[in-house]
Amino acid sequence: MTQDDLKQAAAEAALQYVEDNAWLGVGTGSTVDFFIEALAKKRNAIKGAVSSSERTTALLKKCGITVEELNNAGDLSVYIDGADEVTEHGAMIKGGGGALTREKIIAAASRKFVCIADASKLKPFLGDFPVPIEVIPMARSFVARAIVRLGGQPEWRSGFTTDNDNAILDVHGWELLNPVEMESKLNQIPGVVTVGIFAQRGADVILLGDEDGVRTLTPETF
Ligand code: 5RP
Repeated sequence: MTQDDLKQAAAEAALQYVEDNAWLGVGTGSTVDFFIEALAKKRNAIKGAVSSSERTTALLKKCGITVEELNNAGDLSVYIDGADEVTEHGAMIKGGGGALTREKIIAAASRKFVCIADASKLKPFLGDFPVPIEVIPMARSFVARAIVRLGGQPEWRSGFTTDNDNAILDVHGWELLNPVEMESKLNQIPGVVTVGIFAQRGADVILLGDEDGVRTLTPETF
């Protein structure tokens, strides 16, 4: 099986969490693209989707799924998204695709977060994958210096601008043994818009595609 097969299997398994006649939140990335294609078959049973990026919006519309603003949809029943890394406790690094800010907002507005991934994303602790941090452009160097003081090595994602017209710093070299605390510390730095550590509001369900099928981790198994 290819990595794409494993992503697709996890994505299709997430359909069971989609409630009829409700709005849901949809993340961003290659795993989510498989989910949107599967969701198209249920498009008449749901009210529609709140999208986390321009990329996701384009695919949702192409698949005939209604896209609504979060301001109009209100609280959401479920949010489905991928991750760059996830621990068995549901803490994640996200933002490899640069959509972390809208992803974090929609995750916070959702009753349940279902993380879909191939099993290679499951890690004992976070930090192998560089932590994306969205910053206001004028604060880029200031935030980078603050990150160095916290032991990280920031790298500007040169030539990339987020959907919110901000910059991204990818931070290498952190072994995140306490991701909740690090998320809080980084959130205090003026100029930081969003931290790609999703630990304070982590995943409620993790669906992992591996060679034996799709494994489900939930709070009962955490
Ligand atoms: C985008 C994200 C994605 O969920 C993350 O990068 C995983 O992507 P993929 O499904 O392509 O592996 O956080 O901002």
